Amino acid sequence: MFRTINTDIRYIGTDDIDITLFENQYPVPQGISYNSYVIFDEKVAVMDTVDCRKGEEWKNNLREALEGRAPDYLVVHHMEPDHSSLIAWFAAEFPDSTIVASAKGVPMLSQFFEDVDFSGRTLAVKEGDTLSLGRHELKFVMAPMVHWPEVMVSYDQTEGILFSADAFGKFGNLAECGFYDDEDKDWETEGARYYFNICGKYGVQVQMLLKKAAALDIRTICPLHGPVIRKDPARFVGLYDRWSLYSPTKEGVLIAHASIHGGTADAARRFAGMVGEGARLVDLTTTDPSEAVSLAFLYGKVVLAASSYDAGLFPPMYEFLHHLQDKNWQKRSVGIIENGSWGPTAARVMKELLSQMKDISLVGDVVTIKSRMKATDVPPMQELAHAINSI
Ligand SMILES: Cc1cc2nc3c(=O)[nH]c(=O)nc-3n(C[C@H](O)[C@H](O)[C@H](O)COP(=O)(O)O)c2cc1C
Ligand SMILES: [Fe+2]
Ligand SMILES: [Fe+2]
Repeated sequence: MFRTINTDIRYIGTDDIDITLFENQYPVPQGISYNSYVIFDEKVAVMDTVDCRKGEEWKNNLREALEGRAPDYLVVHHMEPDHSSLIAWFAAEFPDSTIVASAKGVPMLSQFFEDVDFSGRTLAVKEGDTLSLGRHELKFVMAPMVHWPEVMVSYDQTEGILFSADAFGKFGNLAECGFYDDEDKDWETEGARYYFNICGKYGVQVQMLLKKAAALDIRTICPLHGPVIRKDPARFVGLYDRWSLYSPTKEGVLIAHASIHGGTADAARRFAGMVGEGARLVDLTTTDPSEAVSLAFLYGKVVLAASSYDAGLFPPMYEFLHHLQDKNWQKRSVGIIENGSWGPTAARVMKELLSQMKDISLVGDVVTIKSRMKATDVPPMQELAHAINSI
């Protein structure tokens, strides 16, 4: 089945609700959509393919939507397999079609599809190039590292539609979560988890894309995952602007804890009481890292509470900080609570890891608990709560 977006544009993407881990790492309880579109004009352009997991469904959607016409172009915005898997099939099925990709994307075609002869079949486009389909004119804008180096987006100058590749995407299937932004239920959480885990590392590159996008009159965004954004594109552009500048969007204090036998978790809960209303607890031993990472990007103030472990740091906290470093987490105020039963070492390791990140300011003194939180721990914890609340 396809879905009509407007007179000339049809959605032929697919929902994937059977998948448990997107990119084999991110849990997607509501699945994910692989979006793909067709523009009908004097020429017909297909905008990306989908993951081979949903190949048959996409082929059926495409055939149905085409109503007998043969596509002239396949525009490849991104060569990652969740969008490029069906390129070889497409090239064989439509031998007169041309594959349009960025200069970095074209060589990747043969990297992924060794057996296909793409010679004479490709059109490499660069920044600002245009492709006329008749009434519609596509303008190509390079978006390197807005996930991969070959990524580009295209702007339909006739309709003000930005085909935004992975940018402005979201986890979740469209049938249940909503096809358009105004129908969507959880963009701020699942769109954020998607952004920070997939593009979070590349804030500078997202900023470069946003600067170029600012010159365009964007009336609709058609991303490669998640809902089509047509009601309020400016809201999403504004969120991406703040997120890619690493500016927090949530007030309050995130308290991330990792406890072996519950003592540190208990201290973290009591600390949350001292912080008051703005406290948000996240248990790193039970929360998926992608969610904890997303929360850490949303909050500007974070307190880390962890058990010492084998003269080091309890692994769930170690892993969390490693993920944050990998995603370029920065510009945050951080407080530290450690726990240890004979020679506490957690704070030292946390500090070491934090020192490798950009613009992290340590707040207050490290609070060291021995085994269980006691009356003597209350004053230093209150001091830390006061210090972080005062920022
Ligand atoms: C395998 C293991 C290794 C540990 N290593 C250390 C350590 O090197 N130094 C230390 O002071 N405590 C160590 N501890 C004690 C923990 O830090 C202890 O569980 C903590 O002080 C109590 O907090 P919790 O109830 O949150 O786990 C270790 C505990 C376990 C189970
Ligand atoms: Fe991607
Ligand atoms: Fe993708």
